[in-house]
Amino acid sequence: MTSATATAHPNIALVKYWGKRDSDLNLPATGSLSMTLDIFPTTTTVTVDDAADGDVLVFGGVMRSDGPAQRVTRFLDLVRQLAGSDRFARVETANTVPSAAGLASSASGFAALALAASAAYGLDLDVPALSRLARRGSGSASRSIIPGFAVWHAGDDDTTSFAEPLDAPDLAMVVAMVEKREKPVSSREAMRRTILTSPYYRAWVESTAETLDAAVLACADGDVDRLGRITEVNALRMHALIQSCDPPIRYLTPVSVEIFDRVAALRESGVGAWATADAGPNVVVLTRPDDVPAVTAALSGLAELAVARPGPAAALTGRAHG
Ligand code: PMV
Repeated sequence: MTSATATAHPNIALVKYWGKRDSDLNLPATGSLSMTLDIFPTTTTVTVDDAADGDVLVFGGVMRSDGPAQRVTRFLDLVRQLAGSDRFARVETANTVPSAAGLASSASGFAALALAASAAYGLDLDVPALSRLARRGSGSASRSIIPGFAVWHAGDDDTTSFAEPLDAPDLAMVVAMVEKREKPVSSREAMRRTILTSPYYRAWVESTAETLDAAVLACADGDVDRLGRITEVNALRMHALIQSCDPPIRYLTPVSVEIFDRVAALRESGVGAWATADAGPNVVVLTRPDDVPAVTAALSGLAELAVARPGPAAALTGRAHG
């Protein structure tokens, strides 16, 4: 038996990924830009077992045989194909963030799984190859391989669609956990519905490509105000797009909207703060580290809060041969 353990952290996109141009390969319609957080890690151990007659998934201490287990097996099939192996594995994984609540647990989850599984199956992948592999599990996981800020290139094909580090100004995020329940519609289904039914999808793809260029430039210039404005506009455009599906999907709740309003009021009072939200009701506020106390004070009483700074790369934390 060979086992490997890895940790990875969630990331929050400043320029969002929403829409696949190839859903088997998880190739995105546009590139995206994110910050990997230093909180809420996922830890995953993969043990390749000669004697096993099937994969086993233990998720937060509970043995699973439903959707997540099938997703993990499909992912391990890719790793086995790369490694030329037909052996099954036991996967034990634990999140420290509420799962499937729009807080990017699939990003940290598949980044940790990509690293632990590739090591357990004896693959020696460089960072772009790991990012490509993580992408196959969940698009946004490609970015959780990278520390701090990352750009995930849309790329031309499977080999060129991976995330790379990007220098950015010093920033913090205040995560407002509005709800911890599972989201009603998965991002995979919601993206599919967007592409099939929203008349705004083409405009989203075209404008997001321009938005990404502008965000990369704002990072290079160290211009926090410009990057913040881009972040909030891009998030609201994504949610407008999602709401324009048929049947419609609305991830933001009244409390989420209240947080966007309070952040706008903070800006009126001169504090640099900008809100974003993934496919769920939780809102994440981008700000300068010095302004974190002003943001947490403005949001107090509305949601449970956590403060994040740029986090580390996905990392192997253990290996064993038995
Ligand atoms: O990686 P997925 O399939 O869970 O999609 C993530 C989509 C968003 O979180 C809404 C945006 C993003 O870029 O992370």
